[in-house]
Amino acid sequence: MTHDAARDFLATRRSYPLRLLSEPGPDRATIEALLTIAARVPDHGKLEPWRFVVLAPAALRRIAGIVAREGAAAGREPEAIEKAAGAFRTSPLAVAVIGCPKTVDRIPAIEQTLSAGAVCLSLVNAALASGWGAVWLTGWPAHDRATAAAAFGIEGAEWVAGIVHIGTPREAPPPRPRPDVAALTRWVEG
Ligand SMILES: Cc1cc2nc3c(=O)[nH]c(=O)nc-3n(C[C@H](O)[C@H](O)[C@H](O)COP(=O)(O)O)c2cc1C
Repeated sequence: MTHDAARDFLATRRSYPLRLLSEPGPDRATIEALLTIAARVPDHGKLEPWRFVVLAPAALRRIAGIVAREGAAAGREPEAIEKAAGAFRTSPLAVAVIGCPKTVDRIPAIEQTLSAGAVCLSLVNAALASGWGAVWLTGWPAHDRATAAAAFGIEGAEWVAGIVHIGTPREAPPPRPRPDVAALTRWVEG
């Protein structure tokens, strides 16, 4: 069995810069469907070492304030603060994908990390394939523990794998140079 449309999608898919995403974002039922697809990823041991925090517009504006406050408290450059806060202020909708490492001897932490990354890509792809614009971003608010705790509610060993922004595309995304796969590939034939 082949899936030509899926193959064509994967061969041509492109993320959207955040500035090309506008409201409306997807509604609740649509988001639930996208998250169900996103959660259908390789997950060694079926640990489900990730969870979702859906950020509606009002929450995004609130988080923009948290980011501005935490950035200033940490002495970050005003430009870095405004860039990060501005992303949350202008996003139509975002899903924070939270990595939730499970302590299981037989499944290394790195494999749980990779599964969380797979969730982020699957969510972007599910949104793109449904006609939405989407992009996987992080930045310092995702990596700074105090900010991520205040903004997204991470606890303990949790971490932010990605903030996936989803919205209505304003226009097609610009082309992006793609890797020279042959240069990155070594064939071992004997
Ligand atoms: C973990 C991760 C974090 C990222 N964070 C950012 C970011 O903060 N800012 C940014 O401009 N791109 C970021 N990117 C890059 C974009 O998600 C994306 O790779 C780029 O827009 C091209 O995507 P495409 O290959 O799907 O077209 C990140 C990518 C990954 C994998």
